[in-house]
Amino acid sequence: MKARTAQILLMLAGFLAGVASIVLVVVLVSGRDPVPSAGAAAIGGPFSLVDQNGRTVTDKDLRGHPFLVFFGFTHCPDVCPTSLFEISEVLGKLGPDAQKLSTLFVTIDPERDTPAAMKDYLASFNPRLVGLTGDPAAIAAVAKEYRVYVKKVPLENGEYTMDHTALVYLMDKEGRFVTPFNLKRTPEDAAADLRRYL
Ligand code: NI
Repeated sequence: MKARTAQILLMLAGFLAGVASIVLVVVLVSGRDPVPSAGAAAIGGPFSLVDQNGRTVTDKDLRGHPFLVFFGFTHCPDVCPTSLFEISEVLGKLGPDAQKLSTLFVTIDPERDTPAAMKDYLASFNPRLVGLTGDPAAIAAVAKEYRVYVKKVPLENGEYTMDHTALVYLMDKEGRFVTPFNLKRTPEDAAADLRRYL
């Protein structure tokens, strides 16, 4: 009996550790910049940035279709590549419907994320992903419009990393914020949800 009890306690401890780590991840991903429940119209706005092929993309180019937009950087150790992978899966599940929306990955590290660096990095993900960069002032302006928290954090080796909000924003065809887009579900479920807005 004792061995059985110990086994149950171990399983319980494992479960609790799992829950704790999930809670921690949720806090890390979303805790820094709570989603405002009101004033949704205040999220988003005009921008003029450059995609991974060197073409200028502005908010006006996106009118008429909904779009997903999120912020990150190519040196991001885990959250950004995970989001890019998950979004790639969702776009894959959308099939031809993926053409009815734009999906924008905006760098918050323009110093390192040139269009060429973005192109190189995004080659591993769904080809419909658009990577946007620009001069630091333009990036700071768009991050502010989307209320994205950005902080440069020096590393011991002389390099740096970036803390940033990891929300994916679903915007409507007028460029207005609709909802944060939840990637923590199956790509099929996320694609089915997204289809309702296309
Ligand atoms: Ni990141």
